[in-house]
Amino acid sequence: SNLSPPPIPDDVEKLLNDLPKVRVWDAKDIYQWEGFWFPPAFVKSTITLRSRFQARDDDIFLASTIKTGTTWLKALSHSLSLHHAPPVDIYDASAPRLLHTHLPYVVLSNSIKNSASKIVYITRNTKDTLISMWQFFNSLYRPNQDPFPIEKAFDWFCSGVHQFGPFFEHVVEYWQESQKWPQKILFMKYEELKSDPKGQVSKIAEFLGRPFADENEVDAVLWRCSLGRLKNLEVNKSGNILNDVPNKSLFRKGEVGDWKNYLTPEMEEQINQICRIKLEHFGLFL
Ligand code: A3P
Repeated sequence: SNLSPPPIPDDVEKLLNDLPKVRVWDAKDIYQWEGFWFPPAFVKSTITLRSRFQARDDDIFLASTIKTGTTWLKALSHSLSLHHAPPVDIYDASAPRLLHTHLPYVVLSNSIKNSASKIVYITRNTKDTLISMWQFFNSLYRPNQDPFPIEKAFDWFCSGVHQFGPFFEHVVEYWQESQKWPQKILFMKYEELKSDPKGQVSKIAEFLGRPFADENEVDAVLWRCSLGRLKNLEVNKSGNILNDVPNKSLFRKGEVGDWKNYLTPEMEEQINQICRIKLEHFGLFL
């Protein structure tokens, strides 16, 4: 049937063997493909996705690298959809779809790029993303142990060798596309969501063609998706998002500028320098 995943061709296995491979966080092998680093399962599924996935005009895609506010954006977008639509029948294959991806723009299927579907991309201050990532992988792979040396995390991040990295290229691709196609891609920053939640959430709602009726609705959505509330839900204290990723690892401090507690002035200068070349050069300040 249409729903069963297509088999993965043998040559994908072969392709994987030929790709550059690095072990990160002393735990996981990632592969370099199309200029980015992926867990192996993603290389396989993306190849299939590119050739088989048919986007629909009313699809909504949420996109991000890791640790930039994905979970918050997912909660907000889901909440926004609930506000406007009758309850979704998940067995109805024609029901509107809200999907998320960590994939870089370059490997998205043409069907996503060329349909009238919309993409909301979220990113975050570079240094806070790095620290959030380091804390996340510490909690996954070093529970009850000393954290990874921060220098090591810093080097992986700066050289772009981490899941869905390089961060810089991932962000710049979506940034440039959003400049070209503002009706297609909405580019959000975590810090702006923090400093002006009402304004930014209203912006998402309008972009998706579902403007709020009044301010009470905005308040309700923001409350429902607040870090404090989500963190304390039983499902997020004990459930797992993936086999090896507990929900609770997704909710930490949610603060702007936490990097100041961890990075040395030398590290700060080094990463600022990379941002100047790789982001600010394109008019993007994070
Ligand atoms: P910190 O590690 O700085 O606390 P992602 O969802 O892409 O993995 O990003 C994780 C970051 O978003 C974490 O940042 C996490 O605490 C924060 N976060 C998760 N849910 C949030 C929410 N509802 N509101 C604000 N921040 C949230």
